[in-house]
Amino acid sequence: MSTRRLGIGIIGTGNISSAYLKAILGRDGLPGFPVLDVRGLADMRHETAEARAAEFGLSAMSLDDMLADPGIALIVNLTIPRAHVEVGLRCLAAGKHVYSEKPLGINFAEGKRLLDAAKAAGLRIGSAPDTFLGGAHQQARAVVDSGVLGQLVGGTAFMQCPGHESWHPDPAFYYDIGGGPMLDMGPYYITNLVNLLGPVAKVSAMSSRLRSERTITSAPKNGQTMPVKVDTHVTGSLGFASGAIVQIAMSFDVAAHKHVPLELYGTEQTLIVPDPNFFGGEVEMRKRGRDEQWVQVTVEAPYADGNYRSLGVADMALGILEDRPHRANGDLALHVLEVMEAFEHAARGGRTIDITTPVERPAPLATSLVNGLL
Ligand SMILES: NC(=O)c1ccc[n+]([C@@H]2O[C@H](COP(=O)([O-])OP(=O)(O)OC[C@H]3O[C@@H](n4cnc5c(N)ncnc54)[C@H](O)[C@@H]3O)[C@@H](O)[C@H]2O)c1
Repeated sequence: MSTRRLGIGIIGTGNISSAYLKAILGRDGLPGFPVLDVRGLADMRHETAEARAAEFGLSAMSLDDMLADPGIALIVNLTIPRAHVEVGLRCLAAGKHVYSEKPLGINFAEGKRLLDAAKAAGLRIGSAPDTFLGGAHQQARAVVDSGVLGQLVGGTAFMQCPGHESWHPDPAFYYDIGGGPMLDMGPYYITNLVNLLGPVAKVSAMSSRLRSERTITSAPKNGQTMPVKVDTHVTGSLGFASGAIVQIAMSFDVAAHKHVPLELYGTEQTLIVPDPNFFGGEVEMRKRGRDEQWVQVTVEAPYADGNYRSLGVADMALGILEDRPHRANGDLALHVLEVMEAFEHAARGGRTIDITTPVERPAPLATSLVNGLL
């Protein structure tokens, strides 16, 4: 167990910052990540940083003060997608490692610019999602790696909902450039699939945008309309380098459905992987054969029983302190971003797109990283 700590700052203190802070500080029954020493919170709307800081007993600071603080080595960027790269580049220029919320950028070119800048500066990039490090997903990874599924043929990935305007207080970014169901939710599904199956080699797709405007039904902007600048129903196939083929549908236009989030098909068994937006959930398997039954896989891996958002940041901080690679890393996020953007190119051009960025499956989460010991 490491007793060392890394000074971090958080930029962007909106909706999701609360989940990060609860997981880092150990609220709501979570064990906390003591390796992360939160030195301050910043937001372009300073009053939201002050409110969040007061809620968690932390300090609010200006962006400039955070960037100039020598005690802060890593900045967690929880701003909206359009600001991820701009803010990330500023942090790198100030000599800070950056962990960004997803997507890494709103297009491949800017994501690559961020990674190139980090490599040139000898700094690290990390990126959400880190849910693939959750216990249920690490258990699914162990099943895949054991070989019991047989040859991996393919699978399905479904995230279909009516959109986020019924609950998010400020949902316009979900329909702006950089939003849409693929860039918003695709990172969870595609990162998880890359963790299970390895790199994607090609993508084919069709997509639609049946409404040009949508109405917010959540407080406080109830009744206001938002322009829709991205496709909101995206379907297609992912061809993995291994030969496996996964059909995918990501939609903000579907009222209800009964598909499970992720299924993986092997020649010997099928594996049901729980919702990749969460750390836990039920992992199930069934062997081929008419008399076989679905069997629940016991989840022994840690981090399955709560919202551990920031687990990837803790792993990155430990990676920096211990001089080893971190798992939710920039190369993985850039590969996923290239794949997500390929859906747009494939749908527009009516052709299959080859994926160019190399990626390695992140190492499985070491069993030594037991709850609370990070
Ligand atoms: N809300 C969720 O449930 C959720 C879940 C997982 C991931 N995310 C991701 O987290 C990110 C943030 O989402 P959110 O829901 O917290 O959004 P939000 O709109 O609630 O909060 C974003 C915050 O970033 C600040 N901000 C924007 N641009 C900035 C800039 N240039 N400099 C400094 N501050 C800036 C805003 O003032 C705001 O306080 C997004 O990338 C989103 O995809 C959100």
